[in-house]
Amino acid sequence: QKNVGILAIEIYFPPTCVQQETMEAHDGVSKGKYTIGLGQDCMAFCTEVEDVISMSLTAVTSLLEKYGIDPKQIGRLEVGSETVIDKSKSIKTFLMQIFEESENTDIEGVDSTNACYGGTAALFNCVNWVESNSWDGRYGLVVCTDSAVYAEGPARPTGGAAAIAMLIGPDAPIAFESKIRGSYMSHVYDFYKPNLASEYPVVDGKLSQTCYLMALDSCYNRFCNKYEKLEGKQFSVADGDYFVFHSPYNKLVQKSFARLLFNDFSRNASSVGEAVKEKLAPFSNLTGDESYQSRDLEKATQQVAKPLYDAKVQPATLVPKQIGNMYTASLYAAFVSLIHNKHASLAGQRVVMFSYGSGLSATMFSFQIREGQHPFCLSNIATVMNVGGKLKSRHEFPPEKFVETMKVMEHRYGAKDFVTSKDCSLLSPGTYYLTEVDSMYRRFYAKK
Ligand code: ACO
Repeated sequence: QKNVGILAIEIYFPPTCVQQETMEAHDGVSKGKYTIGLGQDCMAFCTEVEDVISMSLTAVTSLLEKYGIDPKQIGRLEVGSETVIDKSKSIKTFLMQIFEESENTDIEGVDSTNACYGGTAALFNCVNWVESNSWDGRYGLVVCTDSAVYAEGPARPTGGAAAIAMLIGPDAPIAFESKIRGSYMSHVYDFYKPNLASEYPVVDGKLSQTCYLMALDSCYNRFCNKYEKLEGKQFSVADGDYFVFHSPYNKLVQKSFARLLFNDFSRNASSVGEAVKEKLAPFSNLTGDESYQSRDLEKATQQVAKPLYDAKVQPATLVPKQIGNMYTASLYAAFVSLIHNKHASLAGQRVVMFSYGSGLSATMFSFQIREGQHPFCLSNIATVMNVGGKLKSRHEFPPEKFVETMKVMEHRYGAKDFVTSKDCSLLSPGTYYLTEVDSMYRRFYAKK
């Protein structure tokens, strides 16, 4: 198959959100800590009527409807998520309800889980399937969904929630360059969820930041090496038109891109100009470990990277800054932002993607963007996703109401035998919502 990749995308996020500025005041931290320090504007969250299953039902139904896809045409459905609602029954099986009416039960795939990396694993599975001998000619469908919530404390403002659905097949406008992936995987305890009675992770914030940057360096080096072997020339930041990162919070994305430039400098890439070389020369003798700790290096690289960041990264930051960390959906929400902002000029461009999941698994891979044909073209994808409209029609909650909601959700997590308020007044038509969990823990949803 040729140009296998993403044909269509739909994104859903809860209409309920809290402004980071109001959270700063509420939490009693210094003004600017969340908005400038973390680089976040706003955070979306699920209320008691929404969860990863309802968000996925909404995203998949909407994708099939808006792109005019017959549910019978789906041959594989993969879900990436780290939000555990059931330790055995996959989210994928809940989504099979959508296919009941068309009597399509012949759909491979289940859930993939490893922190924020599950969505990428699901995506690779679908792409590999279409490229393989077992492909039966139908579409693959990938869903990335999470509700990211943290206990009170420094990590709380880095929550978020969303579901993204992506249709996979050949002749795609967003085509994989499958031969130049670079991965890095290892055993660390930076962020994990050992307490099965709680939705909150155990997180070593500082370690997770360093692990992220170490994984980025390794993946970038492997990505560059594979590119060089294949193309017979060096790869550097100059060879990617856009760089899209997994986005726990925007500040880390700024640091990550700067780090790529530092890698180019250390590798003596020919694209690195004299001015940059001069600015970074004082850091050329740092060991790897020292380079992760050096504040001066961080500042210097971010400064020299700023113009390139504005051109190659900033267009892919809108949704993660507005919604927060969506775990498995974060990288793809960043990519959604790029399509939203640049769909008219993306054809012919290379987009480099970096996926990171704590624990840890990470991969750098890339897309070649093509015009595509209606309905699978960039302008239509941007229209269907309607990111601007969705962001505008949100409802801002005061921090007190957000905290109250988190308390309710703590009690509801793992609980049975309750009905929700069924209050769907804030949800737009077509949105699924949770109505009841019965005495056997069975979950029931309705569609507005
Ligand atoms: N104005 C401007 N900037 C400020 C202000 C202020 N008033 N106050 C603080 N800052 C800056 C700090 O200097 C720092 O920036 P820097 O890193 O450039 O120095 C930034 O704000 C954050 O402040 P810290 O004190 O370092 O943050 P804190 O310890 O409170 O927590 C952290 C930050 C670790 C990211 C926390 O939110 C967390 O644990 N999040 C979850 C883990 C995470 O997302 N890890 C990323 C990869 S793993 C994953 O995706 C889950």
